[in-house]
Amino acid sequence: MQDLVIPIIYLLSAVFFILGLRQLSHPRTALKGNKTASIGMLLAIIATLLNNQILDFQSIFIAILIGSAIGALLAKKVEMTSMPQLVALFNGFGGAASLLVAAAEFYRGGAFPTFIFFIITLSVLIGSVTFSGSFIAFLKLQGIMRGSPVQFKGQHVFNGLLVVLVILSSLYGILNSSQLSSMFLIIIGASLLLGILFVLPIGGADMPVVISLLNSFSGLAACATGFVIQNDALIISGSLVGASGIILTDIMCKGMNRTIWNVLFAGVGATDTNTDNLQVDPMKSIKSYEPEDTVVIFENAKQVVIVPGYGLAVAQAQHMVHELQKLLEGKGVVVKYAIHPVAGRMPGHMNVLLAEANVPYDSLYDLDQINPEFEETDVTLVIGANDVVNPAARHDTNSPIFGMPILDVDKSQTVFVLKRSMNPGFAGIENELFYKDNTIMIFGDAKDTVSKLVSELK
Ligand code: TAP
Repeated sequence: MQDLVIPIIYLLSAVFFILGLRQLSHPRTALKGNKTASIGMLLAIIATLLNNQILDFQSIFIAILIGSAIGALLAKKVEMTSMPQLVALFNGFGGAASLLVAAAEFYRGGAFPTFIFFIITLSVLIGSVTFSGSFIAFLKLQGIMRGSPVQFKGQHVFNGLLVVLVILSSLYGILNSSQLSSMFLIIIGASLLLGILFVLPIGGADMPVVISLLNSFSGLAACATGFVIQNDALIISGSLVGASGIILTDIMCKGMNRTIWNVLFAGVGATDTNTDNLQVDPMKSIKSYEPEDTVVIFENAKQVVIVPGYGLAVAQAQHMVHELQKLLEGKGVVVKYAIHPVAGRMPGHMNVLLAEANVPYDSLYDLDQINPEFEETDVTLVIGANDVVNPAARHDTNSPIFGMPILDVDKSQTVFVLKRSMNPGFAGIENELFYKDNTIMIFGDAKDTVSKLVSELK
């Protein structure tokens, strides 16, 4: 009976995972997708608990209670802007779980068929790299460790040698069963070191891409572990995570016009950029207005495009921005939002933020949809965005963001840029948009400025 029921429930859970992913691929159904996937997870847990090999339910339930409490607390407490490092931690724990399950299977003993030992090695290798690599990514993003790349000569060769060491240890262990245990420890040690050395040379600016890649690795590790313990649900869900993580990595790389090899091996950001190093041409000048000075321009506008960026998330200005949208629409102005694929610090960051403030999805436009419209736009309101509107990406071959598709806001009639100072954005470079004739800076916290705009317009 059990042999029949458990696989059926696992299959059902896999169906829920796939449906959940499908729904997650559009903002309108994403919330539902999250719930659908959670039901899949619940089913998988129930099927696992039905297994009659389980000896001790008590410790399992204590673990579920502790894990759920920590999860609920994190979901409530962690700010949206800190989500990338939280995801890094989750990936790391996923990798650690695969490592532990594979190690437990190894230490359970018995004679291993060569194939199973090979898969255990794979699970340990990917799980350990994911665990230690994600931990370094977390430390960098949390600011506990310097974000700039940490490199030494021949690092990539050394990393390659570590992979060779893992393969050779695995082969030696298979051929000399008396050495299996010591080889297994070498495999774990080398893999953990590899994870650290893999992420250290990557700059903090590229960390979100690395996290997405490590997310994919955590899926592959789970998939390998699924083969070790012959669990179909783990194989299917691991493959889904592996595939979706790679797709997401690809989307992010395209959004920045970089290849994954450039992100992983170029050590971009090797010099820490800080504002003091920026060479601002003293001949260049900017125009700056107070919020009250903008009213006339707004009142004459037919179309306003709002460009949200990371600063909008920092200021938590999304609700105020929606207020502004409603106010302008009440005056007959067409209001659109231009969403850059890598605005903010994670994929979909701006969509989630605006959805939180109930901004209708119909008002959101992708880069390709909105770019042709800027020439007919009277006012573009850049709120806490910087790199994604920097025209240098179009023509300055020396710029680190050269080639990155940008929102062509400079083509609109008037551009208001809302930020607190002349400080750079994520890429640490000056923005030539700020010096254009049609650009007007409005300095201050984005939420304060937008609320002043709202009261002035009222
Ligand atoms: P950024 O270029 O990072 O600029 C954000 C701006 O917000 C800053 O210039 C900052 O200027 C301003 N700001 C911060 N707090 C503010 C506040 N309270 N009120 C008003 N302004 C505030 O942001 P972006 O244009 O969204 O570009 C995203 C960057 O992240 C890109 O370089 C992208 O490549 C990188 N990145 C993104 C992702 C994903 S998936 N989204 C992944 C990897 C890398 P002040 O300090 O002067 O206020």
